[in-house]
Amino acid sequence: MKILVILAHPKEGSFNHAITHTAIKTLKSNGYDVIFHDLYVENFNPTLPFEEIPKNAETDSMVEKYCKEIISVDGIIIVHPNWWGMPPAILKGWVDRVMRAGVAYQFVEGDLGEGIPTGLLNAANVLIFNTSNTTTERENKVFGDPLELIWKNCVFGLCGINNVHRKNYGVMVTSTLKQRNKWLKNVEDTTNSIFPLNL
Ligand SMILES: Cc1cc2nc3c(=O)[nH]c(=O)nc-3n(C[C@H](O)[C@H](O)[C@H](O)COP(=O)(O)O)c2cc1C
Repeated sequence: MKILVILAHPKEGSFNHAITHTAIKTLKSNGYDVIFHDLYVENFNPTLPFEEIPKNAETDSMVEKYCKEIISVDGIIIVHPNWWGMPPAILKGWVDRVMRAGVAYQFVEGDLGEGIPTGLLNAANVLIFNTSNTTTERENKVFGDPLELIWKNCVFGLCGINNVHRKNYGVMVTSTLKQRNKWLKNVEDTTNSIFPLNL
């Protein structure tokens, strides 16, 4: 079984990188094939050009490759920090360009886009790992935890995946090494529970 892992963090050695390495190590030891993309290292161009918007439009070869991957995988893991209640722009652009009409979702015949689309993704589970500096209480009370809605409803729910799991770690900026190691253990346990031994 194939799992796609996407990392969107600009700093090699960040805690987001540590999360990603832990998740990939766990997936591999559970017998999964891992397709890994570090969007910053790959210098992914997040700008969706107008010509690429129509359903059957040509895309560049990099986007085409990502599109083939996202429909073929059995699971998806995405790792990113909370930036203004949103994913970093490079990841938002990856969603814009890769989760395309005809690839990730489609409208029924005769629907110009005003109706409810049908999801086309086949992955059974999506796991999102986030980091942030806001306390959970303030994130929920003041901001309404937008990342929860973005990933579960606006993106993967719309594309046909209802098993979307999300973990947020924080407050990062004041965290100790001991706390970070505990979080990495939680990354391992969570990955094990969503993507168990695959013999
Ligand atoms: C542009 C930018 C916007 C940010 N916005 C938020 C935010 O809205 N909420 C929050 O809790 N943290 C915010 N942060 C803090 C990051 O989430 C935090 O630095 C990151 O999760 C730390 O992870 P790392 O140690 O892997 O770099 C922001 C940071 C940056 C650079």
